[in-house]
Amino acid sequence: MKITVIGSGYVGLVTGTCLAEYGNDVLCLDVDANKIRILQEGGVPIFEPGLEEMIKRNVAAGRLRFTTDIKESVEHGTIQFIAVGTPPDEDGSADLKYVVAAARSIGRHMNGYKVIVDKSTVPVGTGDKVRAAIADELQQRSEKTSFAIVSNPEFLKEGAAIEDFMRPDRIVIGTDDDTAKDLMSSLYAPFVRNHDRILFMDVRSAEMTKYAANAMLATRISFMNELANLSEVMGADIELVRKGIGSDPRIGYHFLYPGVGYGGSCFPKDVQALQRTAEEHGISLKVLDAVEKANHAQKSVLVDKIVKRFGDNLKGKHFALWGLAFKPNTDDMRDAPSRVIIEYLLNQGATVAAHDPVAIHEAQRVMPDWKGLSYGDSPNAVLPDADALIIVTEWKAFRSPDFTDMNKQLKNPLIFDGRNLFDPKRMQKEGFEYYPIGRQQ
Ligand code: NAD
Ligand code: UGA
Repeated sequence: MKITVIGSGYVGLVTGTCLAEYGNDVLCLDVDANKIRILQEGGVPIFEPGLEEMIKRNVAAGRLRFTTDIKESVEHGTIQFIAVGTPPDEDGSADLKYVVAAARSIGRHMNGYKVIVDKSTVPVGTGDKVRAAIADELQQRSEKTSFAIVSNPEFLKEGAAIEDFMRPDRIVIGTDDDTAKDLMSSLYAPFVRNHDRILFMDVRSAEMTKYAANAMLATRISFMNELANLSEVMGADIELVRKGIGSDPRIGYHFLYPGVGYGGSCFPKDVQALQRTAEEHGISLKVLDAVEKANHAQKSVLVDKIVKRFGDNLKGKHFALWGLAFKPNTDDMRDAPSRVIIEYLLNQGATVAAHDPVAIHEAQRVMPDWKGLSYGDSPNAVLPDADALIIVTEWKAFRSPDFTDMNKQLKNPLIFDGRNLFDPKRMQKEGFEYYPIGRQQ
């Protein structure tokens, strides 16, 4: 099938590449000429495990191309995916300007029947806005071509995007158009051995499903974080509690890890956007208000421990920090908890030497010229002379360090661990003062 993907970011690139992998003829468009140049020259503008090789393979096979030419891209695909960003507006609601611009450019250049598939995360009712924008453009040039609207939200996780896309738990397809339903069904058939995994529904329910999923997951994390904070004070161990509740299949083990608060480009903005949608319709989502408040507080949980240990005047103190990206296996720094922690420490007069396996370049871009912040190219490189080590992201490379060597390098054998990487009893034996989340020292 001929496919166009509008927006070549995390979602657009992964979608386009995975669809090409199954033999589709895919053209990816972006308005960012620099991104397209990198892709055309054989590079990949983002870090996502497995993506580079898959892009190379499909480009070489002639199934995957990149362009900034809107007319060419609209004329190319019978199916037009919209995968542009939906960042938060000033009040937290989803800003739809990129989605509407994409819809208008489709309407401006459409030359025959098209299925317009929204993959961006958009508030309920956006399908109608996309339909209206396209209809308006068609009317302006007295063009009568028909088209269908589909909502096909994306559930992939950064760092596991290829795996999630190639083997999805479910594919949600919202449409009231039978031709579109058939086309989408054939397009996704190779991705789902069991066809029950394709869930057909109306556009609004599909749009709502995406926000409901992210809000539910964010709620789980905030609730676990609050249980961890309480366990710590009450002399309980959240790791044992996690296993104790996760073994109930109604609860399950996934997404029960307490930490330094959820970050990234999605949970924070999607929770807020859902709250704003509800408010606009006179409904207050009280649980979600609490989820957001709890997450805001959790981003400072390590800072609170540091202040308790060292006092709030941190002048002259120096900290090593492991993990800058909002989670492992990505270079994404959007809403990363590390930014809140580093900003606080620098403001209190401390200095920070940070390491991340892939996000240093991106960190330098989003925290340019932050005085007192330096980077090291290995976990060990940032340890010397540090008053303590702070662990913010649970990269595999941090999980089994040489504790004897660490002890020698650090000025103080002190670790604030925001991801519970180590066993507190072992840390005691290794001679560390160890501050985990929701566990006893
Ligand atoms: P991104 O910022 O990485 O990529 C968006 C791309 O769209 C950018 O490259 C931008 O230049 C391009 N763009 C903007 N306007 C355009 C236009 N009119 N024509 C062509 N290109 C245009 O964003 P992302 O992380 O890929 O997210 C895209 C959407 O998918 C968002 O709504 C997000 O909430 C949702 N989503 C993201 C993830 C994720 O893990 N990142 C997962 C599921 C859903
Ligand atoms: C999340 C969802 O998991 C995806 O299904 C969804 O498609 C995506 O948002 C989106 O809509 O864009 P992502 O943001 O890539 O994916 O990463 P997650 O693995 O969900 O992690 C989000 C945050 O929660 C991270 O900061 C992570 O550290 C934190 N987290 C996750 C925890 O603190 N504890 C956990 O148990 C799991």
